[in-house]
Amino acid sequence: MAFCFNFDLQTNIGRGTDEDKIYREEPNETKGVDSIDTRKTEANVEKVKEAKEHSPPEEYQSLLEDAVCETFSLGSLPPIHHLNESVFEKTASENSDSEKILSQTAAQHTDLITGLYEGGLKVWECTYDLLEYLDDEGEVFSGRRVLDLGCGAGLLGILALKRGAHEVHFQDYNSTVIERLTLPNVLLNCEEEEDDDDNAGKQDQEGEKDDSPIPKRRAIGPTKRSKLGRCRFFSGDWTSFLSQILSEDPPPKYDMIMTSETIYNTAYYPSLHEVFHKLLAPDGLIYLATKAHYFGVGGGLYLFQNFIEQKDVFKMKCLKNVEEGLQRHIVALSFRKTEK
Ligand SMILES: C[S@@+](CC[C@H](N)C(=O)[O-])C[C@H]1O[C@@H](n2cnc3c(N)ncnc32)[C@H](O)[C@@H]1O
Repeated sequence: MAFCFNFDLQTNIGRGTDEDKIYREEPNETKGVDSIDTRKTEANVEKVKEAKEHSPPEEYQSLLEDAVCETFSLGSLPPIHHLNESVFEKTASENSDSEKILSQTAAQHTDLITGLYEGGLKVWECTYDLLEYLDDEGEVFSGRRVLDLGCGAGLLGILALKRGAHEVHFQDYNSTVIERLTLPNVLLNCEEEEDDDDNAGKQDQEGEKDDSPIPKRRAIGPTKRSKLGRCRFFSGDWTSFLSQILSEDPPPKYDMIMTSETIYNTAYYPSLHEVFHKLLAPDGLIYLATKAHYFGVGGGLYLFQNFIEQKDVFKMKCLKNVEEGLQRHIVALSFRKTEK
């Protein structure tokens, strides 16, 4: 089930020298959105989904039983294993979840139900854009504290973990996503594999997805424990997540926040901005990957940039534009002035 947005967006990206003023023109055509249910938008954004921290179960193997897995390989990135997303739709009738999002998304054939299900059960294409960018740039994660915000399958955080991040926190709106997808995916990648980090450079062609069975797994060992021990998992809406994290003593500050396809709904901008503002380390960096515009929900980079400028806390820099298919972008945000 793929998103399909048709639009024609003129931008000034890459022209001129003022990197803070990149996105100036709004999309001029809106048609053809199919997988978003926005009927409940107004009502649902007022709801709060309480934050919850999820611990990996002791009996983690049960999470991986009957798992159908894929491996994403690209350039010099370590292979990233993840559950095949189509399984959720196919097995929705047999599986239940307390949020009831599995049955609802399957019945409605939708990738997003505002305020109920925010889309985390599939890997969205900007995640792949950002992975590619991180590979091209040879981004270093060693020793850093990283937040994968709106993580869904968690591929960005998993990359950081495999590349030696000191700590990786995964956050998604839906507890079902964290329990059924993010956590299993992290576990898959914590397995001690022969082809893990050390052999990362030997992987095959660009962006190749391999749905052959996952590599041989071994019993839980010290590497796995140490990788998992560096992760934390949270569900809930951003406001609630922020107050939970800020109640810790001391609250964590992240050296890097990575977030993909999370600015589609303008109603969420204040809480998203607050998370960035309160949780980014003074010299930290936010990588944000997004489509230019999200029809059906209305958000996009142009509106988000306006919001950022009004707040005057962060500066935004364009890192990469993807012109094939839907227009997509990768931008970086950092504090305008170093926050104390
Ligand atoms: C479209 S999905 C993208 C998932 C993943 N980042 C990807 O690129 O595959 C948007 C994600 O943003 C998060 N999200 C959106 N609105 C949110 C909100 N108000 N509070 C918390 N999380 C939210 C959800 O966790 C959801 O998984």
